[in-house]
Amino acid sequence: MRMILVGPPGAGKGTQAKVLCAKWGIPQIATGDMLREAKKAETTLGVQAGEYMSRGALVPDDVVIGLVDERLKAPDAQSGFLLDGFPRTVPQAEALGKLLADKGLALDAVVQLDVPRDLLVERAVLRRTDKRTGQIYHLKYNPPPLGAELEHRADDQPETVAKRLDAYEAMTAALLPYYEAKGLLRRVDGTLSPSEVTKEMLRCLEGTK
Ligand code: AP5
Repeated sequence: MRMILVGPPGAGKGTQAKVLCAKWGIPQIATGDMLREAKKAETTLGVQAGEYMSRGALVPDDVVIGLVDERLKAPDAQSGFLLDGFPRTVPQAEALGKLLADKGLALDAVVQLDVPRDLLVERAVLRRTDKRTGQIYHLKYNPPPLGAELEHRADDQPETVAKRLDAYEAMTAALLPYYEAKGLLRRVDGTLSPSEVTKEMLRCLEGTK
């Protein structure tokens, strides 16, 4: 399976990606996670990207395309992958198409998680992640167990979440018609419970590789 998970900040991409990747034995390639790791390691790329991320803006296309290009060369990505949070712009989508075409590969599906804006703010602001396991929790909908080492993402403050949502609407919305025109786009109601969303995703992917 070679697929893309698209959706606004807080839509549940990371939550679903972890379940599907474990089920299919393919890697989750999440550009947000890769950029946060680079920022934590204080690499030049991480420091530069961090300035965009803390403002809720998108990191320049060439930076994320370079990261994904390298990641797709790794042995674990040769038999499939799930891209989470990439591509976010049409130039990124075109670059991905070219990277795959050069290897004689193509995408199987693009799944969009639909969630209204008012729910997204609450989902992001109350998100907590266990820094040891990477498990994603929510203080209201999926409370963490006692003993979890919780992290609150720096860009999950209400004002930054609002800017990320604006950036998504301005930049990423154009992706949907791009993939729709290629017959690859499927939509899933992301307001259902996490396990129902997984079921809906598997249902809409039936018949795909
Ligand atoms: P990134 O890390 O990709 O963040 P995002 O797209 O804003 O998405 P999130 O991680 O916030 O949300 P999610 O959809 O994964 O939701 P989750 O499953 O955690 O990007 C961060 C930044 O990096 C960007 O702003 C940008 O600066 C930069 N960047 C990354 N990729 C880039 C690119 N390609 N180009 C340029 N810049 C890039 O769930 C959220 C919460 O809701 C959790 O608490 C969860 O427990 C809860 N939840 C999940 N599902 C449900 C459900 N069904 N019901 C109730 N609660 C739920």
